[in-house]
Amino acid sequence: MRVLVTGGAGFIGSHLARRLLAEGNGVRVVDNFSTGNRANLADLEGEIEIVEGDIQSYERAHNAVRGCDVVFHEAALPSVPRSIQDPLTSNAANVVGTLNILLASRDSGVRRVVFASSSSIYGADLTLPKQEEKAPQPISPYAVAKLAGEGYCRSFSQVYALETVALRYFNVFGPRQDPLSHYAAVIPKFTAALLAGRPPVVFGDGEQSRDFTYVDNVVDANLLAAAAEGVSGETFNVACGDRITLNRLLEELREITGVDLPANYLEPRPGDVLHSLADIGKARERLGYEPGVTFSEGLRRTVEDYVSRHPATAGAPRG
Ligand SMILES: NC(=O)c1ccc[n+]([C@@H]2O[C@H](COP(=O)([O-])OP(=O)(O)OC[C@H]3O[C@@H](n4cnc5c(N)ncnc54)[C@H](O)[C@@H]3O)[C@@H](O)[C@H]2O)c1
Repeated sequence: MRVLVTGGAGFIGSHLARRLLAEGNGVRVVDNFSTGNRANLADLEGEIEIVEGDIQSYERAHNAVRGCDVVFHEAALPSVPRSIQDPLTSNAANVVGTLNILLASRDSGVRRVVFASSSSIYGADLTLPKQEEKAPQPISPYAVAKLAGEGYCRSFSQVYALETVALRYFNVFGPRQDPLSHYAAVIPKFTAALLAGRPPVVFGDGEQSRDFTYVDNVVDANLLAAAAEGVSGETFNVACGDRITLNRLLEELREITGVDLPANYLEPRPGDVLHSLADIGKARERLGYEPGVTFSEGLRRTVEDYVSRHPATAGAPRG
């Protein structure tokens, strides 16, 4: 199969590209390297096609999807705080970019588009666990943009018969997630802080919880979503189905790194959701999805990888 991974130089996209190649597919990546990095694909140079391009241009999107059977659409500006600071830029990448990819896919005879949506669309809905049929209540501009992307996916499946599947990822983590970005996710941030001997910064009291999902599980879900029958126009939660507080995450990280530093607790951030836990029953039933890697195992692998890339860090993993 010939596949395109948009945002393939990013954290999740680079894992997906690697697996798709290993499974014998012809892989093309399109990325504008805004938050992604060529180094994430360094070991795949020569084996996959890497196209530098911005999907905010229909023409670039069209060139990228040409000749592909399946498109895995990961490209986005994936940050809640950034979308609050600059909603126009977030909208251009996340809504216009998605619409361009769908249009270009329709125009190029792509069979299916698998779209990276987000658990953030549940927003102000406080009930747990999150189920796909609940009415989304997005808070941040980022979540609004992801919901718009889902809406376009559903529309294209009905109006143009382009097959689409939207996957709502819940707090993905794993090797190569950027700890240096101003908008970095919490696991690489905490890991980098502890190993540098700095107290990790926690916004709030640390009792907020997330359904942290190891990246290999997300890759599994994408491959299943590309192949499953009778799921076009559908949306699925992709998570572990386990609720982990930031304080528990810190405890496990202290254990793995051997660095016993207290956290620096600050005021909660606007737009942040307090608790998040997925019901993954629909993905289990319709896609055959199972989270193969547990939170603790994923965390151990992530820290090991971080230490191997940053040998000068203060602590050494014990786990
Ligand atoms: N990481 C998570 O926890 C999480 C959770 C929910 C949803 N998601 C979604 O998963 C996808 C991948 O996220 P990630 O964590 O790997 O982020 P990432 O920033 O590492 O990857 C996104 C990639 O998209 C590229 N990109 C951005 N705008 C582009 C544009 N206009 N044209 C071409 N390329 C562009 C970036 O350069 C980057 O390589 C995103 O759509 C994100 O919204 C991620």
